[in-house]
Amino acid sequence: MPKGGYGIHSPFVFDLYTGVIACNKNEKVFESIEAYRKEMLGCDIGIIRKSVAESLNGGFRGELVKLSRIARTVSVPPHLGRLLYRLVNHFQPHVMLELGTSVGISSMYIAQANPKGTLYTIEGDEAVFGIAQKRFQEMNLANIKSICGTFETELPHLAKEVSSFDFVFIDGDHNGTKLLQYFDVILPKLNSNSIVVVDDIRWSEDMEEAWREMKANKQVSISIDLFRCGVLFFRQGIAKQHFMLRYGPF
Ligand SMILES: C[S@@+](CC[C@H](N)C(=O)[O-])C[C@H]1O[C@@H](n2cnc3c(N)ncnc32)[C@H](O)[C@@H]1O
Repeated sequence: MPKGGYGIHSPFVFDLYTGVIACNKNEKVFESIEAYRKEMLGCDIGIIRKSVAESLNGGFRGELVKLSRIARTVSVPPHLGRLLYRLVNHFQPHVMLELGTSVGISSMYIAQANPKGTLYTIEGDEAVFGIAQKRFQEMNLANIKSICGTFETELPHLAKEVSSFDFVFIDGDHNGTKLLQYFDVILPKLNSNSIVVVDDIRWSEDMEEAWREMKANKQVSISIDLFRCGVLFFRQGIAKQHFMLRYGPF
């Protein structure tokens, strides 16, 4: 893995790595997002979560979970939130999509990186959806459009409505087969400037396999493996290349 960008032979990826990925500049907005995470981490309130997989299978067995546990185990860590922020801030995508809102931490990083763009974020669990939506309103994050429902039903509807997906963050089902199904719906709406970030590509063997298939897709020109997550680019006119780069936590 290159240190400080040495050994990266693509000018686009070299600039991206040195100026965006490995840049550790602090932004004022990070403070309010991390203050919200801190509040959630200290929150002993329990909510009844319904597993989306169970709901899809017709079962609705709820599980009592403390908000502190959700914030600790489910939300993106600060360094990944900052990476999402920097990618969005650098490329200024118009239509952004997130699969998996949870309590809204990654949505806050993405939305605040480009207030002129619109972030559509889909969440199947009503309890966490409500918590995130309330906080988005309190923080005046008017460019977030929250959608409550399953990716299976909501994503195809949304794909018909929007002109394109310019930035996509997939952080929902940790299931390789499902991941490829969502990717199939998203693919026709991508353009040569689109970026797709997939979290937890090493979560399981099927997630790793799905990541391999995604990066092999003929529409993908550049894929960057940051170990925890993967980033895909669809730029035309450049040779297909794969990179494995060192990244955080910073
Ligand atoms: C890892 S969490 C998202 C964390 C969030 N991106 C963050 O970093 O703050 C994944 C979320 O996706 C939701 N989810 C999983 N599968 C889903 C599906 N098929 N449809 C809708 N929501 C789903 C879960 O309810 C969960 O809240």
